[in-house]
Amino acid sequence: MKKIPYAILIAMILGACTDQPAPVESPDTSGRAWWKEAIIYQAYPRSFKDTDGDGVGDLKGIIEKLDYIKSLGVNMVWLNPIYSSPNDDNGYDISDYRNIMPEFGAMADFDAMIKGMHERGIKFVMDVVVNHSSDEHEWFKQSRSSRDNPYRDYYHWWPAEKGKPPYRWSYFDENGDAWQYDSLTNAYYLHYFSRKQPDLNWENPKVRQEVYDIMKFWAEKGVDGFRLDAFQFASKDTTFPVLPEGYEKDVRNVIKHYGMGPHLHEYLQEMNREVLSKYDVFAVSEGAGSTFEDAHALVDADRNELQMAYHFEGVGLASSLDGYKLSDFKEVYSRWDSAFAKDGWLSIFLANHDNARMVSRYGNDSPEFRDVSSKMLNTFILSMRGTPYCYYGDELGMTNIDFDKIEDYKDIAAINGYKKVAKEGGDLELYMKYLQFLSRDNGRTPMQWDTSENAGFTTGTPWLPVNPNYLEINVEKETADPNSCLNYFKKMVKLRKDNPVLVYGDYQIIQREHPQIYAYTRTLDGQKMLVLLNFSEQNADITLPESDALGEVLINNYESVERSGGALSLKPYQAVIFSVK
Ligand code: NOJ
Repeated sequence: MKKIPYAILIAMILGACTDQPAPVESPDTSGRAWWKEAIIYQAYPRSFKDTDGDGVGDLKGIIEKLDYIKSLGVNMVWLNPIYSSPNDDNGYDISDYRNIMPEFGAMADFDAMIKGMHERGIKFVMDVVVNHSSDEHEWFKQSRSSRDNPYRDYYHWWPAEKGKPPYRWSYFDENGDAWQYDSLTNAYYLHYFSRKQPDLNWENPKVRQEVYDIMKFWAEKGVDGFRLDAFQFASKDTTFPVLPEGYEKDVRNVIKHYGMGPHLHEYLQEMNREVLSKYDVFAVSEGAGSTFEDAHALVDADRNELQMAYHFEGVGLASSLDGYKLSDFKEVYSRWDSAFAKDGWLSIFLANHDNARMVSRYGNDSPEFRDVSSKMLNTFILSMRGTPYCYYGDELGMTNIDFDKIEDYKDIAAINGYKKVAKEGGDLELYMKYLQFLSRDNGRTPMQWDTSENAGFTTGTPWLPVNPNYLEINVEKETADPNSCLNYFKKMVKLRKDNPVLVYGDYQIIQREHPQIYAYTRTLDGQKMLVLLNFSEQNADITLPESDALGEVLINNYESVERSGGALSLKPYQAVIFSVK
């Protein structure tokens, strides 16, 4: 486990969940909600659009592109953290929760951005990073200054006279050690992520109150949703016991021992009472615990905690250099869907800022199949139950950049992971191969707007290189081409928005054993759709027993579909949705 890059681990550890499904019962059509009907577009603010030439995207850039976002048909935007931050982990290390990072702009830009979104009927999701802060936050500066400082208990300290604390593993530490010794007070502090991301002590009621006040501050500013970063780790067993030998072999144990602490649900209910219930907002947890029971406890309506969670078992699948098996993909998504068929609500996504590009991992990014396989994957995301999260650039079919030198990488996970493997004398060549395929930087390259220099992202030097394929893959070109991935994406978004069956409908997988095709139906109040997705680069045949029932083709990523009665032949990566009579 220690040598696996973060992109893989985040998927494995945050989302391992292998319970058996609950039996499928009738769909939950009673609890409709705007956040279930939302289609979320995630933009990585650093990489979306730079307006001041410093090579870093900014809020004015988001504002400039609001009409583009609106044209996609999506109705909610999630931005990764935009608060003041020294950027050890690109904003996931916050030094002031009530201010905007100067590189991104000022509070006036934030106000204008959210106003611009609301005027266009787009809601806004704020990233809330409160499992940890930056070590440059005033709270931590105070906390480390002396053992009796009033902020001491805002973080987890282990006095060195008690000896070394029981080992805890850290995601980003170059020694893989979550305890950092601080000579100033002769004590260790805990950081599950980098040394510059000390974990906040959620057992301290003052910390919780600070967080709720911060959330209220943003809710008052009009924020419509909160994404709780790494939240399953917030409540911990603060006695920090020695963990059982070999516990890390089962990744679910990592969540169990590191997070999902004894008071997590109590705190979330408190957050719900203090903040969420007072505004028309929703909150989504990053991570869904280690069992379905955990996940339900986080999101079921009668729990009064959160509204949705995202699990990582799906994005964890394509984490091997050998790719993934369609049978596993079907199994994971069917199992999670079944478990939430009646109660609770989930998110659907295949990429985000912690993962490499969707088409490079789950589709086929060769020139021949990139476009069609991207369309097929977008069809999947937008036709499943759960709130879809679409990652910027995936509407265009943007691909991995495939850096080949460690010097090209900017991500702390990649850089410190490399140092760690080097220190341990591990296989650096293999590690580089992993990075090339799976690194988070693959998914963070600048948005490709047009064919001008730097793809129209910046007039300066981009903080991360633009993928050279921008001359082919860009918004300008794809807008003009009626058959582009972008225009297909818009059609698929519209299909979902026009048809609540794609949001709320019962999901049934059919012909589960088919080696190439993922086929399922969605049914709601007598309306039924059949989704056929060829996940392979070969033609694929399927015979449907009730061929007479097939109605019109609602969307198709090819011009036609070959069909003779119930026998259909799908082209490579073909995606078709039929209405069913
Ligand atoms: C999860 C975020 O998605 C990731 O980008 C970040 O590095 C860690 N949490 C730490 O905040």
